[in-house]
Amino acid sequence: MTAQEPAYKVDALIAEDIDTYLALHQRKSMLRFITCGSVDDGKSTLIGRLLYDSKMIFEDQLAALESDSKRAGTQGQDIDFALLVDGLAAEREQGITIDVAYRFFATEKRKFIVADTPGHEQYTRNMVTGASTADLAVILIDARKGVLTQTRRHSYLAHLVGIRNIVLAVNKMDLVEYDRDTFDAIVADYREFATSIGIDDFTAIPLSGLRGDNIASVSDAMPWYDGPALIDHLETVDIDLTSEQDKPFRMAVQWVNRPNLDFRGFSGTIASGSVRPGDAIRVLPSGRTSAISRIVTMDGDLDHAVAGQSVTLVLADEVDCSRGDAIAAADAPPQVADQFEATLVWMAEQELQPGRAYWLKLGTQTVSATVQPPKYATDVNTMAELSVKTLGLNDIGVAEVYTDRGIVFEPYADNAELGGFILIDKATNATVGAGLLNFALRRSQNIHWQSVEIGREAHAAQKNQRPRLLWFTGLSGSGKSTIANMVEKRLHALGKHSFLLDGDNVRHGLNRDLGFTETDRIENIRRVGEVAKLMTDAGLIVLTAFISPFRAEREMVRKMLPEGEFVEIFVDTPLEVAEQRDVKGLYKKARAGELQNFTGIDSPYEPPEAPDIRIDTTKIEPDEAAERIVDHILGMAGTSK
Ligand code: ADX
Repeated sequence: MTAQEPAYKVDALIAEDIDTYLALHQRKSMLRFITCGSVDDGKSTLIGRLLYDSKMIFEDQLAALESDSKRAGTQGQDIDFALLVDGLAAEREQGITIDVAYRFFATEKRKFIVADTPGHEQYTRNMVTGASTADLAVILIDARKGVLTQTRRHSYLAHLVGIRNIVLAVNKMDLVEYDRDTFDAIVADYREFATSIGIDDFTAIPLSGLRGDNIASVSDAMPWYDGPALIDHLETVDIDLTSEQDKPFRMAVQWVNRPNLDFRGFSGTIASGSVRPGDAIRVLPSGRTSAISRIVTMDGDLDHAVAGQSVTLVLADEVDCSRGDAIAAADAPPQVADQFEATLVWMAEQELQPGRAYWLKLGTQTVSATVQPPKYATDVNTMAELSVKTLGLNDIGVAEVYTDRGIVFEPYADNAELGGFILIDKATNATVGAGLLNFALRRSQNIHWQSVEIGREAHAAQKNQRPRLLWFTGLSGSGKSTIANMVEKRLHALGKHSFLLDGDNVRHGLNRDLGFTETDRIENIRRVGEVAKLMTDAGLIVLTAFISPFRAEREMVRKMLPEGEFVEIFVDTPLEVAEQRDVKGLYKKARAGELQNFTGIDSPYEPPEAPDIRIDTTKIEPDEAAERIVDHILGMAGTSK
C-alpha cells in the first residue's frame, strides 16, 4: 500500500514529537482539538494566532514541523492556503495525499494538540478513524457568511464521531464592525441546526483571528460579549479524561515480538481499559484464553498499563496469536463478525461502487470488504434520509458492509478504535471512505460453515482431474465464446469434465435482473464467480465467457480460488476489429446512440495487466488459440493426471 506510506511516516514523526512534548509538560492536562473550516473562514490565521499568542512554541518543534512540511512537500502554510481556497482542487490535480499536520502548544494551564487539516477529505478521515481522538472541535464561521452546508457537515461529523465539546468560533468580526446582531443571528441559526442533530450545548465566541480579538484575552472591541476568550475556554473546558480507561481491556496486536525462542510478546497500543499481570485474557477471533504474565516496555516491566500506552504483553500459555488479532479481558471480549451496518463518509471523487471489493482497515486489521447499495444518505442541511444508489464525494450514508473474514470489532459508539475504519481502493491505494461500525448483523453470527464429508479434493480425484476456472475476458465480439467453445470440445474429447458459463446465456437466467451499469456488471461477475467456484468445488473445469471489464472483479474471483486454479485468458481483439465484425449488430446500435453503456464505446474496458494467457485474435485462428489453451492447462505441472 505505497500510497499510504507518507501518512505513516508523518505519524511516526508525530509520535516522536509528542514524547518530547509530553516530557516537558508532564504535569498539565492535555486537550486535543480540531478546527473545522476552510481558509476563507480564516482557519490558518486562527491557528497561527493561537500558536503565536500562547508564546509557547518550542524552537525544536517548529524546526521539526518545518522539515516535516518540506518532506511532505505539501504542508507549509502557503500550500495550506492554496489548497484550502478551492476545496481540494490542487490535491485532485496533483493526485497527492496530504495528511494532517499536528501542532503542539501549551499555556500556563494546559497543553494542546491541534490537528490542522488542509482539506476536508483528510479532515473527515482523521475524525472518523478516531486517529485524532479529539476532545473538542472548533467550528469556524465567517461572520459575513454565517452557517454554511460545510458548517453543518462538519458539525454532524464531529457529533457522529463522539466529540462532545463544540466551540462555534464566529470569525472575522472586524469585518462586520463587531456587530452584536450579526453574531446573535448566526448563533441562533446554528443553535437550531445543532439541536436537530443532538448537540445540546456549544460555546459561541465572536473573534477575529487576524486582529487577535477574543483569542488570548477578551477584546475591548466587543464590550457586549461577556464570555471567555478562546484560549481561556480551551484552558478550562471540562474534558473526560478517564472514559477510555474505564472500559473493558482491549488491545489489537500490531506485531508479534519474537527476538529468540525464549521470548514471545504481543505488541500494540491499548485501545481501552487497563491491564495487570495475572489478568485473565481471551485472544480473538480464536477465543483461546490465557493470562498476562508480563507487561514489557522499553523502560522495563510494568505492573499496570492503561489505554493509550504502547506495550508488549507476554502470555502465560503458548496461545496462537498474530498481527490483527485482539487480546481482551476474558470475561468481556469484543465481538467478531463479518457483516455490519455502518455509517459511511465517502471521500473520493469516484463514487462508491456497491459490490466492489475494497480494503477495509480497522486498527491493525486489514481485510477485503464490499459495501451494499446504501440504505440511505443523510442530507446534512435537513437531516432527511435520502434514497440513493451510491455515495459521492462528501456524502454521508448508512449501508451494510461485508468482510471476507471475521474481524474483531466493537460498535463505534462504545469504542472508537475498534469501531472506526477506512476503505482503500485496491487499484490506486487511495483512501476513498471512512466509516463507523454501528452493529453486526445478526445473520453473520448465526451462519456457520457447515463442514462437508466429501470435499473438493474427493470430487476432483473421482473425476481424475484438477479443477480449473478458465476465465475468458475481452470486448464484446472479441471471440471469447467461440474460443471457449472450442476449448471445451477438446477437453470433452480428452475425457475431461467441464462446464461453460456464457455471458449471454447466464443473463437470460440467473442474472436476468442485471443490466449494464457499472454496479450491475460488478454483481454479474460476483455471481458468476461464486457459481464458478462451486463448480470447481464439484471438481469441474469451468470456462466462463464474460466481458468482465473491470480488473477489480477479475482479481476478486482469482482470490476466491486456490492459488493457480484461476487462469485469466485475455482475448485481445482491438476495438476497431470487434466493431468491424459486429456479429450481433450491437456496435452499430451503440454508435447510433440506441444502446447505452456499451463496452468500448461509452463504458470502459480495463485490459488485464498480466493475463495467464493472451490470445491476439488478429494473429491466430480460434482453433489454434484453443489448442494453445488446452496445452497450457494440461501441460502445467501436476495437472495432467
Ligand atoms: S459484463 O460486462 O457484465 O461482463 P457480459 O459478458 O455478461 O458483460 O454480457 C455482455 C454481452 O451482453 C455482450 O456480448 C452483448 O451481447 C450484450 N450486451 C448488451 N448490452 C450491452 C452493453 N451495453 N455493453 C456490453 N454488452 C452488452
